[in-house]
Amino acid sequence: MNPDWMTAAVGESRPRVEGRLKVTGSAPYVADLAVPGLAHGWMVTATVSRGRIRDIDATDTLAHPGVLGVLDHRTARRLNPDVGQHFGPDRSLPMLQDDVIAYAGRPVALVVAETPEQARAAAARLRVTYDTEPHDLAFSMHHPAVRPASTLFGPEADIGDLEGELAASAVVVDEVYRTPEEHHGAMEPHVATAWWEDGQLHALDSNQGPFGVSQVMAALFGIDRERVHIRAEHVGGGFGGKTICGAQIILAALAAEHFERPVRVAFTRRQVFLATGSRPPTEQRVRIGADAEGRLRAVHHHAAFALSPLAEYIEWCTEQARTLYAAPAIRTELSAVPLNILPPCSMRGPGATPGSFAFESAVDEVAERLQLDPLHLRLLNQPSVSPVSGRPFSTRRLVTCLREGARRFGWAQRDPRPRVRREGNLLVGTGVAAVAFIAGVFPSSATITAETDGTFSVRVGATDIGTGARTVLIAVAADALGVGTERIRLHLGDSDLGMAAGAGGSRGTTSWAFAVTETAKALRERLPGSTTPVTATVDTTPLINWQPDEERYTYSAVFAEVTVDPATGEVRVRRLLGMFAVGRVINPLLARSQLIGGMIGGLSMALHEEAVRDPITGRLVTADFAGYHIAAHADVPDIEADFVADYEPQDPSGFNGLGEIGTAGTGAAIANAVWHATGIRQRTLPIGLGRAIEPAAARDRPEAVSAA
Ligand code: MOS
Repeated sequence: MNPDWMTAAVGESRPRVEGRLKVTGSAPYVADLAVPGLAHGWMVTATVSRGRIRDIDATDTLAHPGVLGVLDHRTARRLNPDVGQHFGPDRSLPMLQDDVIAYAGRPVALVVAETPEQARAAAARLRVTYDTEPHDLAFSMHHPAVRPASTLFGPEADIGDLEGELAASAVVVDEVYRTPEEHHGAMEPHVATAWWEDGQLHALDSNQGPFGVSQVMAALFGIDRERVHIRAEHVGGGFGGKTICGAQIILAALAAEHFERPVRVAFTRRQVFLATGSRPPTEQRVRIGADAEGRLRAVHHHAAFALSPLAEYIEWCTEQARTLYAAPAIRTELSAVPLNILPPCSMRGPGATPGSFAFESAVDEVAERLQLDPLHLRLLNQPSVSPVSGRPFSTRRLVTCLREGARRFGWAQRDPRPRVRREGNLLVGTGVAAVAFIAGVFPSSATITAETDGTFSVRVGATDIGTGARTVLIAVAADALGVGTERIRLHLGDSDLGMAAGAGGSRGTTSWAFAVTETAKALRERLPGSTTPVTATVDTTPLINWQPDEERYTYSAVFAEVTVDPATGEVRVRRLLGMFAVGRVINPLLARSQLIGGMIGGLSMALHEEAVRDPITGRLVTADFAGYHIAAHADVPDIEADFVADYEPQDPSGFNGLGEIGTAGTGAAIANAVWHATGIRQRTLPIGLGRAIEPAAARDRPEAVSAA
């Protein structure tokens, strides 16, 4: 073990405990783990967006060397058709059950062979034909099939006299903002190895929550959850794309049972794009009315997103509108449009990220039209209590984030007029955005054993998807037990470790730390006098107050400086600064790393990321990292992320999650900076090459020619 981290405890910067393993390539990921007698499955996906499978001709496939067989809807066993996950029933989960195709990328067969190369080559020889039906990919908030989104997260807001306040406003912004379909792009492609033993399912699976996946798999296969054992010691990123029970594990488990062999299904990058979930496109109308001094009178945010008819989903874009600013009238609406797309799943600040882009752009437009400083406008409209519910905030250090960020960024020197700052032939601009991101805990359990050698075995069904969860939970356990971190033996990444939240919703660490802290408390009461190992288990379910008196959020202020080349429209982000209020910080080194990573994700979505589907076939054109560009090193500037002093009173240790707040806000800050540089408002992401100057191209060309 690395002695560097042995004194780590809450509040101290310590590197990841598994950092050395990872940088030396010796941390075992799912696809690295050998299983005796392993066979390999290769997924074949639908090439049409809607219709039925007419025929699957496997003659050539079965003749290929090493092939064990083909699993499809005619040969696969029946799965429970009524299984749900996060948002309710999910009819995309039972795979290879029928001939119906509702999206391109739907798994239609699994070719199983002795080696992955044989399986891949044989899969290429599988002839699948379809009877196609007209598909629908025409996303718009005015689509005839638009309907209210699920209210699983609670009702939308509606307070005050919206139309009256709008009519009485000195200025009204009424604009539509758009964000595209986006894909997670975790470094490790989805992979699972499954085998059956005595009617029990064992699987190594790259996911964000082994307990949740074990529940879904048990339900699908109709067995007790205790008979499903899912593990992953290391997971190479998720960004939400592994919050769901993935096709890889469902297909691997089906094949392992059918062929009575352990089967690994490892996706290629292309298969990850085609078959594992995405963030849906959004279209959002924002109306904001303000008086001449900039006080908001009316806020209306109507967001629509696409989903699959197979499964409910919520891209909860409307959170900022009901939390960030005070206004006498606030209405939010959320609409869903069922289309023939891959069922969406949570991605990098679901809802908050596209929602913040729309809402914080519109707020900037109010400042623009009133010729007010956008920072001043944001400070002017801060609520003292939740503007919709009237409840107090548990902690709200947003003003400190805005002021301290402005100070460090040098905001006071900013000329508020757009398109006045130039460096050589480049236009330069700065922008700001504020964010509130919902915080809290989900139920989890932990088990701690005080061993007789003075160590403590801590068991929690957490997953470290690269965030540093392992490292911070060791610190939390050490502090809660009042011992040094060298005495903690942490076990995670295993569905047998007990009920636990997944690494998602920015609530993994707070949920697991809560369980570990409560378990340590229970254990310490029983320790004195004992000479044998003592074990305590606590499930936090009854301890969670779902309707606390106070609203719980994390906050940030993001500042961006961009340059725009007026000849090409190329946007470069030159500086990013994020000030964050995220409760008490467990490990500043890892927290900063996570927030910087999140800000890079936000930059990437602001400037680059866009999934494109062929309207004729509905197939994803951008199913690789060449077509779907995620910000690379050359795109990423110097980024500063720092914290303001904060403590979350709803958490026993003062913690809040910070998994996703780095992402939300960055897009709006960049788009607002592009406006400041060019005088042209960006209402569609990504801003991409050329778009930053589109309406003004003619104006810019002569200048570019003379500069060259
Ligand atoms: Mo997250 S997008 O809740 O993994």
